[in-house]
Amino acid sequence: MCGIMGYIGVSNAVPVIIDGLSRLEYRGYDSAGIAMYKDGNLKIIKKKGRLTEMVDALGEFPVTDLGIGHTRWATHGVPSDANAHPHADCSGRIALVHNGIIENYAALRKELMLEGHDFLSETDTEVLAHLIEKYYQGSLEEAVRKALPCIKGSFAIAVISADEPDRIIAAKKDSPLIVGLGEGENFLASDIPAILGRTSKVYILEDQEFVVLKRDSLTITDFAGKPVAKEIFEVTWDPIAAEKGGYEHFMLKEIHEQPTALRETLRGNIKNNMIDLSDLGIDDIFVQVEKIYIVACGTAYHAGLVGRNVLEKLARISVETDIASEFRYRDILWNPHSVMIVISQSGETADTLAVLREAKRNGIKVLAVTNVVGSSVAREADRVIYTHAGPEIAVASTKAYSTQLLVMYLLGLHLARVRGTCSQQELVELAEEITHIDELVEQVLTEEDRIKKLAEKYQGVQDIFFLGRGLDYAVAMEGALKLKEISYVHAEAYAAGELKHGPLALIDEGVPVLALITQDNLVEKTMSNIKEVKARGAVVVAICKENFQEACQECDEQILLPNVNPILAPMVSVVPLQIFSYYMAIFRGADVDKPRNLAKSVTVE
Ligand code: F6R
Repeated sequence: MCGIMGYIGVSNAVPVIIDGLSRLEYRGYDSAGIAMYKDGNLKIIKKKGRLTEMVDALGEFPVTDLGIGHTRWATHGVPSDANAHPHADCSGRIALVHNGIIENYAALRKELMLEGHDFLSETDTEVLAHLIEKYYQGSLEEAVRKALPCIKGSFAIAVISADEPDRIIAAKKDSPLIVGLGEGENFLASDIPAILGRTSKVYILEDQEFVVLKRDSLTITDFAGKPVAKEIFEVTWDPIAAEKGGYEHFMLKEIHEQPTALRETLRGNIKNNMIDLSDLGIDDIFVQVEKIYIVACGTAYHAGLVGRNVLEKLARISVETDIASEFRYRDILWNPHSVMIVISQSGETADTLAVLREAKRNGIKVLAVTNVVGSSVAREADRVIYTHAGPEIAVASTKAYSTQLLVMYLLGLHLARVRGTCSQQELVELAEEITHIDELVEQVLTEEDRIKKLAEKYQGVQDIFFLGRGLDYAVAMEGALKLKEISYVHAEAYAAGELKHGPLALIDEGVPVLALITQDNLVEKTMSNIKEVKARGAVVVAICKENFQEACQECDEQILLPNVNPILAPMVSVVPLQIFSYYMAIFRGADVDKPRNLAKSVTVE
């Protein structure tokens, strides 16, 4: 996620901004930049890579009392010097930093180019600098106010002009931004850690708020210019807690970031009430498709298992999902009309990359689903769909998984529309449900305390089993992986119907079994398997939809999920499993953000 830091005041802005950006490094970034007012002009320095590279390029710090800085996490355009923020207008007298996504940037860019604006980057952000230039008639505030209604999407912005060196203009919609209040100085940042130690008085901006920040005053209005009354937030956090947004660990923070990550990944992909990915330019590789291979590792592989069911059911294409480290050593009978989908949060996992290369050697087109713009997988694949989860810092993958699932649904519904394999009514209804999936995830997150109690109760166990059928089995596998990975409890997932073929022998008195029950057509079947484990003394916790409460009453406990459409259930049912794993780890004294024996992604062989 991008980081913004702005300063206007009595000190030299440059070290203050660099220090603020360094405190936002935990958010993850791939380039950094700064724009400052200097001798009647703006000076912009920006570099791909670590903050230190930008600092080296700056040389001796210029002295100025006004500047804005940025750490970029690429979403449009690879990480590069040119794509790094700040971005300027043609005259170089206006500079802007932005966090968020401008959905309609391509159309705006075309329009602005026809009007004579030259673009220097591939970013969505640059259009906003040019739009502000277009509307500038001596008032930066007015120009920004006129430009904002032209853009669709999410933004937190900070803008300065060489012609008005007494102010920073800022605005926010769907991306975080705060103002720090000082004495004769004021700060702007995307998160509280950036200004800790400089002030404890903060305004946390809400959507549709617009700020004019001066050295010793500030005004906050709505986008129409109406003053907004706000309360000062007194920050009492220490720097470590602040980085984690007040959460104990990054993992818990990222679990709670899932609704936002889902919203960001969905953004711009609904047209005429249906899922439409045409703008992503992926359609040509699916024209003659007869078979899809989905290949990935770990959690991403589990997202691929859901993807298999979804693509087969909605788009009626035959799909095979495999683990990359297995697939690469198989002697594949490549169907020339196949497409490979590789899923990788980091885009750097060695086995996944090897499979991608093998597919390309065999003339197979590859679509990458990844969270990291400019990663190896993104660069080498023929087409890319990005998940917009933001950097995933915790070792256990949570928000990346849910956004990978969402991409599987988006792709399934898009291909279903193009191929005519679902009725218009089904397409519209599912798109409508997907639009609200973030709210359902939010609803499940409110069950945190209850799930925590469950973890407290089972903290001492040796083994835990996860059961499910169909999509529930795919989610059960993810639940078992998460639990092993961070709480070091032996966990296994079984397809519920497979138990009787051997694994039932493992079920003993008091063994906890977490059963996922979200598929309307499989409730009875799964319940009959649950009876089998209960007969051997297992304690069964059902993670089931509200409307199955009665059908699941023989289970010892129930975690109730909202009544989601069965095909979309994995995005909701995985959440209690993530929370359960997190608290199991906490109660067992594991270091959640630094699990043993694991690196975030295996980039070397
Ligand atoms: C589990 C986890 C791993 C990754 C796997 C693939 O919580 O994080 O299983 O999912 O290492 O990594 P990517 O998606 O980066 O290829």
